[in-house]
Amino acid sequence: MKKTVAISSHNSNNNTMPSGKKRWSWLVISVLGLVLLSMLVPLAFILGLPHSIGSVTEQRSSTSRKGPAVDTSFNKGGLSSRVDGLLKNLGPTLPKDRRNSVTKAENKTTGFAAPKQMIKPPQKTHNGGSSADGPKKVEAIGESEKTCELKFGSYCLWRQQHREKMKDFIVKKMKDQLYVARAYYPSIAKLPALDHLSQEIKQNIQEFERILSESSSDTDLPPQVEKKLQKMEMTITKAKSATVDCNNVDKKLRQLVDLTEDEANFHMKQSAFLYQLAVQTTPKSLHCLSMRLTVEYFKTSPADANQSEDLLNPELHHFVMFSNNVLASSVVINSTVMNSKASGKQVFHVLTDKQSFFSMKMWFITETYKDATVQVLNIEDLNLKSHLFSHFSMPQELRFSFSSASESRTEYISVFSHLHYALPHIFPTLKKIVVLDDDIVVQRDLSALWSLDLDGKVIGASKFCAVKLAALKSYMGKENYDAESCTWMSGLNVIDLVQWRKRDVTKMYQSLVQQRPSEATTLGATMLTFQGLLVALDDTWVLSGMGHNYSITYEAIKKAAVLHFNGNMKPWLELGIPTYKVHWRKFLNKDNHFLTDCNVNP
Ligand SMILES: *[C@@H]1O[C@H](CO)[C@@H](O)[C@H](O)[C@H]1NC(C)=O
Ligand SMILES: *[C@@H]1O[C@H](CO)[C@@H](O)[C@H](O)[C@H]1NC(C)=O
Ligand SMILES: *[C@@H]1O[C@H](CO)[C@@H](O)[C@H](O)[C@H]1NC(C)=O
Repeated sequence: MKKTVAISSHNSNNNTMPSGKKRWSWLVISVLGLVLLSMLVPLAFILGLPHSIGSVTEQRSSTSRKGPAVDTSFNKGGLSSRVDGLLKNLGPTLPKDRRNSVTKAENKTTGFAAPKQMIKPPQKTHNGGSSADGPKKVEAIGESEKTCELKFGSYCLWRQQHREKMKDFIVKKMKDQLYVARAYYPSIAKLPALDHLSQEIKQNIQEFERILSESSSDTDLPPQVEKKLQKMEMTITKAKSATVDCNNVDKKLRQLVDLTEDEANFHMKQSAFLYQLAVQTTPKSLHCLSMRLTVEYFKTSPADANQSEDLLNPELHHFVMFSNNVLASSVVINSTVMNSKASGKQVFHVLTDKQSFFSMKMWFITETYKDATVQVLNIEDLNLKSHLFSHFSMPQELRFSFSSASESRTEYISVFSHLHYALPHIFPTLKKIVVLDDDIVVQRDLSALWSLDLDGKVIGASKFCAVKLAALKSYMGKENYDAESCTWMSGLNVIDLVQWRKRDVTKMYQSLVQQRPSEATTLGATMLTFQGLLVALDDTWVLSGMGHNYSITYEAIKKAAVLHFNGNMKPWLELGIPTYKVHWRKFLNKDNHFLTDCNVNP
């Protein structure tokens, strides 16, 4: 930031120079300006502050008249107010945790139709009877609440949290404050004049660390914690108003984002700050990517290859994906294709929304995936009649936290959206499809899925026994169901469209949804719809938890046919778990000039 001063003062000296020199210095100025800007822009993006670029340029032109003194104060005030703005935005916290108590251990059927034959992914050591069939704990739901907050990662929860007090509201607030205090501490500690304040911050930090190491919900907190919060708040306010080098605070904040695993684990459990940062930062470069691609599309109006025969041919292997994330869908397709023996047989249908349509199109015209065919479809062009399908909705992910005396864990269930129920209508000629989520990476040839015998059932899916239907009681309504059944996940699903049409699964779903007016019913309705229509995929097909579970071993990752990054640490986000990200990133074309232009470097 300081360099801005130098440029501005050069600028004001211009008119005293001879004309030759003047042109020369102009060149220097513009080059310096560009260099600066290239440094500022990523910084602004990292801070997630849309106005920062504007204010910087504005300030530069005004200081060319007033001189460097003003500029210095801007550097302090401007940046610190931006950091403040960022910190002020951190109010919202994560959704309410579901506290479920473990009531009993039991050995029960999973509720999945026993498949006639289990088709396993190739080249893998089959790990015998799935552990999921062993004794399992049964989670009984503690209380029934609205599901909106559970839709972690959707805007729904941001709306909700303004209204609702969370059970760990204060814990999260404390974590955020701790985070901010840590960012300020090193800068304050360097100044001897602020020794007292530095001591104060240190004490507060230590106290918060001690409290938070023992508390995960508000009920665990010691009495008078409100007072401690106020004290911390005052200390932070003092720290903010102290004349510290804001560049350092800013740097420290960003360093903290570059967390070690332990740090991330510690914070991600509850910190709204990091979640906010994660949704705020990287999507900026993804937004840039999307804009660049869209502009490029309209600039070049590329010819669309006519592949209509392949697109409808039921003899080919059709993959369907809902996504508005160019990078994610590219990795899914590329990883599928790179690991397949016959990519010429593969057809990918990417269903997207109006906003992402042209960028998606442009991307998939520019990139090739061996001999595979890729089609991009705009949901809104499809004329889906039912109101259920009128809005593009991404497959959802619901977060469940379980805690008891012996354990506390969080699970993320990915589930079909309403739009999945339009698939038989969208692809009328197809008989069998494989539906993929966009947060997966494929590591094996998937062609065995096409010979999987669904035995008259409709769908093949990985069961998810960490959450039983009993835990979803509040979404299930009055229908009959086996509470001991495992839930199942989207991510990798084989669908027999012929059976689907024959049994009119869509209609079943619609009537189940109609009985549940709330928007957050997809999970319950989906689980009910496919009861008895589901074949469990062998456990070795999909390894899930890559977006939240730090305990997954390298061996397990190597062995899995498909990695599912369910959880909030998606691999394209800054907060993706570094050791898992590599398995995703390697399927990205790093030389793509759109990626380099937009500084996309997940
Ligand atoms: C694409 O193919 C379809 C049928 O094969 C044909 O009706 C259509 O005119 C073709 N479009 C172009 C642009 O060639
Ligand atoms: C995380 O992964 C490990 C190893 O696969 C597993 O034992 C554990 O249950 C998982 N934890 C969660 C919360 O999913
Ligand atoms: C697909 O992945 C390979 C690495 O496996 C990479 O070299 C290539 O550039 C990727 N292609 C695209 C289109 O992303």
